[in-house]
Amino acid sequence: MSISHAAASQQAPARKVTVATLAALRARAEKAVFLTAYDYPTAVYADRAGVDMLLVGDSAAMTVLGLPTTVGITLDEMLVFTRAVCRGAKRAFVVGDLPFLSYQPSDEAAIRSGGAFIAAGCDAVKCEGGQRIAPRVRAMTDAGIAVMGHLGLTPQSLGQLGGYRVQGKTLAAVARLTEDAIALQEAGAFSVLLEAVPAEAAAYVREHVDILVYGIGAGPDVDGQLVISNDALGNFVGDIRPKFVKRYADVGTLVEASLRNYASDVRAQRFPAPEHCYPIDAAEEALIHAARPSTIAATAAAAAVEAALLGQAPATLDAATARELRDVRDARLFAEARA
Ligand code: KIV
Repeated sequence: MSISHAAASQQAPARKVTVATLAALRARAEKAVFLTAYDYPTAVYADRAGVDMLLVGDSAAMTVLGLPTTVGITLDEMLVFTRAVCRGAKRAFVVGDLPFLSYQPSDEAAIRSGGAFIAAGCDAVKCEGGQRIAPRVRAMTDAGIAVMGHLGLTPQSLGQLGGYRVQGKTLAAVARLTEDAIALQEAGAFSVLLEAVPAEAAAYVREHVDILVYGIGAGPDVDGQLVISNDALGNFVGDIRPKFVKRYADVGTLVEASLRNYASDVRAQRFPAPEHCYPIDAAEEALIHAARPSTIAATAAAAAVEAALLGQAPATLDAATARELRDVRDARLFAEARA
């Protein structure tokens, strides 16, 4: 890591990361740090930590919305997450992920959907597919939108891929991946993301294109590493555990334990304690206390008990209350007699 990049990571926020910054990182053989984010706090923390790129991934469908795959999320839902991330990311380069069917149907759909992400504050958009999606990429780049391609394991085509499977495991498969990457480059994409491909395959693709190549589960020989924030932080609520994930925290366990403690404090009435209550002027507090219906009732009851003890139970007492007061008086007299 050069001094400039090290300093940027320790003293964020610095200058906004652009495509030129990313190209400069590659020219210096420095790796870009790429993370998914779906909300404002994550974007702020990532910025403070010096993360270079944020992907508002359609993985939000699974990480945030609890859907079984990524295809169920809508463009409008993605834009809500995107605006929150863009508000938080002052330095990081933000990539918005075009959801399923928001760009495939037509060039116009691609431009409108891609444009909506840019209007929401993104620096670029990402879409899945190679040669077959290249015309849509060309339409978007012609409209001035920076586009990142996504090849390898493309979750929006899970049915065609037959599940979450490693891609590019043979020379023929790597050659096809490379043709797709070249098609994206020719369509004007500034970068391509490779997901779940062997390290050697990713290195092969990277050596055949000029654009930036990022990886998630694609080994070390790429221009930067993407991880899904919930995977890295340990708060993905689901069964998928990709081999390439390295966990940096166990946030899920921490959250659950903290909420158990909160629940037990509430049930045991340990929370709220006096330090969690708003203080007011003591005289006002005494006045409010004296005016509370329960205080008035207690004062009246105390007076009635005293009267009963003196044998002067008020005539207004109903029979049940008078009986209770007699019991209280008898108990007190009994206690005094024993003392
Ligand atoms: O949506 C996402 O987070 C992605 C990554 C898995 C590449 O597309």
